[in-house]
Amino acid sequence: MKNTSGKNLIKPSNLWKLFERFLAVMGSNYVDHCVRTAYLVLKLCEEERIDPITTRKAVFAAYFHDIGSIGKSDEYLLSADYDLLHSIDGYLLLRNKSPLKEAAKIVLYHHCSFNRPILDKYFLLGLKIAICDRLDDWERNHIEYETALDHIRDQSGKAFNPLDVLAIEKVSKNNDVRYDIQSGKYKDVLNDYISSLSFSKKSIQGYLSMLSSLFEIYNDTTYNHSKTVAASGALLAKYMGYGEVDCFKTFFAGLIHDLGKIFIPLSILDKPGKLDPEEYEKMKMHVVYSRTLCKDLVPYEILNIATYHHERLDGSGYPDQLRHNDMTELEEIMQVADVLSALLARRSYKAEYPYELTRDILLDNVEKGRLNKRAVQAFIDNHEEVCKTANDIIIDGYKEASRMEGERYKLFNEIKANRARMPGMPLSNFLKKK
Ligand SMILES: [Fe+2]
Ligand SMILES: [Fe+2]
Ligand SMILES: [Fe+2]
Ligand SMILES: [Fe+2]
Repeated sequence: MKNTSGKNLIKPSNLWKLFERFLAVMGSNYVDHCVRTAYLVLKLCEEERIDPITTRKAVFAAYFHDIGSIGKSDEYLLSADYDLLHSIDGYLLLRNKSPLKEAAKIVLYHHCSFNRPILDKYFLLGLKIAICDRLDDWERNHIEYETALDHIRDQSGKAFNPLDVLAIEKVSKNNDVRYDIQSGKYKDVLNDYISSLSFSKKSIQGYLSMLSSLFEIYNDTTYNHSKTVAASGALLAKYMGYGEVDCFKTFFAGLIHDLGKIFIPLSILDKPGKLDPEEYEKMKMHVVYSRTLCKDLVPYEILNIATYHHERLDGSGYPDQLRHNDMTELEEIMQVADVLSALLARRSYKAEYPYELTRDILLDNVEKGRLNKRAVQAFIDNHEEVCKTANDIIIDGYKEASRMEGERYKLFNEIKANRARMPGMPLSNFLKKK
């Protein structure tokens, strides 16, 4: 990459493709539904001449409207309260772990009903997702398009806002929209829309961090491991004299380095003891999967920093048994950051290690010619700041998880009186055996 701005290290449209590849683990049904709903919300907002800033919030909320379903059991997906539960979980996730703080509220209301008290300014935007969500669900379930529109008209003033009903009728009768939906061109339209928007460096970082959180939610962990690797890797690079852009590359790589673990069964990821040889071989594949997920979307240099994190300087690592001469120092820094972050945190198979033990293990690896000496020395020289940063992130993960748990019940009671109940409400289409 020639540019030096961290913001330009990934194009927003590529960031979205990365989300799509990642979320495909929920099934192609899931991604198609969310992209089509976001497309319909965009068209609805255009028809209603909604201002661009509000449109952006509504479209992004639509794109992530069912994100609360991620990593959930069949029992959850089939429960009678699925509509509210995933609205609440999606809201908490977006509010706490994404740059979409305002869009979060819109997600909270996407299964609410128009003929209930309006809760706040996001309520009516939530109903725009509701109407597009229903239209898409009915169409996906092969209900005739005219019949689907009849259902919608029937709910005008009840579940749906009459203004939205009039607008969605016009939208869905528009030949261009019919063509976009039937030909799959809606994906390009949404892509073009996202490419036309500007994103700050901070929001790009926020989306990458959200991606790493989704992985943890999917796997039901709260270690914040990727964030710890990202932060400690960037700190080590800074102590070793690297500039801001290189530190950001390391940070970026840390956030995506283990994304491929989403394809590894939980029985292996969470195994309390040592993995047997067959399980270990499967586990090792996560770096290959991380590479496949991010390929062509993330700059090559960052991809290598991320996916060489289990290589070792003496060729004893995986997956390619690279050696010191094959690797850049940033790639080797990531290896140290990954090891120290794993050692400092509690895992299913081990307690958290104190600094002294972490240091000794790292030094032993330096002595055996496996880990970068300069990076380990940078850790030792600055261990107070690195350990504090890592511990704060780990503890934040635990605290946030318990806070969110408490809030779920409160929110459930707050919005249950506003939920929409209408004929033909399907249960989740995202059933998946883990
Ligand atoms: Fe939903
Ligand atoms: Fe939905
Ligand atoms: Fe890993
Ligand atoms: Fe890792």
